[in-house]
Amino acid sequence: MSTQITRTAVVTGGSSGIGRAVAERLRADGYNVATIDLTPSDEKYSYTANVTDRARLDEVLAEIRTELGPVTILVNAAGLDGFQRFTKLSFDDWKRVLDVNLDGVFHCCQAALPDMLEAGWGRIVNISSSSAHSGQPFMTHYVASKSAVNGLTKSLALELGPEGITVNAVPPGFIDTPMLRTAEGKRLLGGTVEDHIAKTPVRRVGRPEDIAAACAFLISEEAGYITGQILGVNGGRNT
Ligand SMILES: NC(=O)c1ccc[n+]([C@@H]2O[C@H](COP(=O)([O-])OP(=O)(O)OC[C@H]3O[C@@H](n4cnc5c(N)ncnc54)[C@H](O)[C@@H]3O)[C@@H](O)[C@H]2O)c1
Repeated sequence: MSTQITRTAVVTGGSSGIGRAVAERLRADGYNVATIDLTPSDEKYSYTANVTDRARLDEVLAEIRTELGPVTILVNAAGLDGFQRFTKLSFDDWKRVLDVNLDGVFHCCQAALPDMLEAGWGRIVNISSSSAHSGQPFMTHYVASKSAVNGLTKSLALELGPEGITVNAVPPGFIDTPMLRTAEGKRLLGGTVEDHIAKTPVRRVGRPEDIAAACAFLISEEAGYITGQILGVNGGRNT
């Protein structure tokens, strides 16, 4: 009789866009999956929490552990964008974006790591942004937060490698989600999605499933020798 355990994954931002696609993919791949998001979802094992609220996160992680077992996979996809000319950017808006996109990753990693350390096996995938590669006008706070996530990823990978835990980042570029369409609707993209497709080497917009596929690979057993890497999924927009 097989005694293979079913691993448990937590996906933040799992109620929408990329996080939702990652959760769906991991469920299809046979993992136990719980999602954490500000916005409730109808899926089983969806928990409502703000990733900046450590006390609530610890409470939710404890519930997930009881329901599904130790959490050895974490995908940090919760995030906020923001568009403002730097000279007009308020410190409150700067802090809000850094709080969610960077401090949220700090809290979620710290809350989930005890299970991974105990198991001697773990996978963390942080969803950063291709804008950290290129820079992006009017998004200094967002790009600073995502660049910091890439840096955190590389450093944490070095700390956790000896513990059997890999840490990688997937920076998406131009993925068709509510975040992208809202920005298009507010004319914040410097053109329509169609205009951008014409400038994208593979000539299509990215799909949340493209990011989910990269996460599924990085989480798999066979990716155990890959850590501290920033795996761009952007249709060739950034090389
Ligand atoms: N769509 C793109 O082209 C693109 C490009 C680069 C990076 N990203 C990144 O991918 C990730 C997912 O973005 P998306 O495009 O799917 O956006 P989305 O807006 O569709 O989904 C983001 C989810 O995060 C949740 N969230 C936001 N703040 C939260 C908080 N404080 N606590 C808990 N949950 C919170 C939202 O409720 C939402 O469900 C984000 O980190 C985003 O920065 C997206």
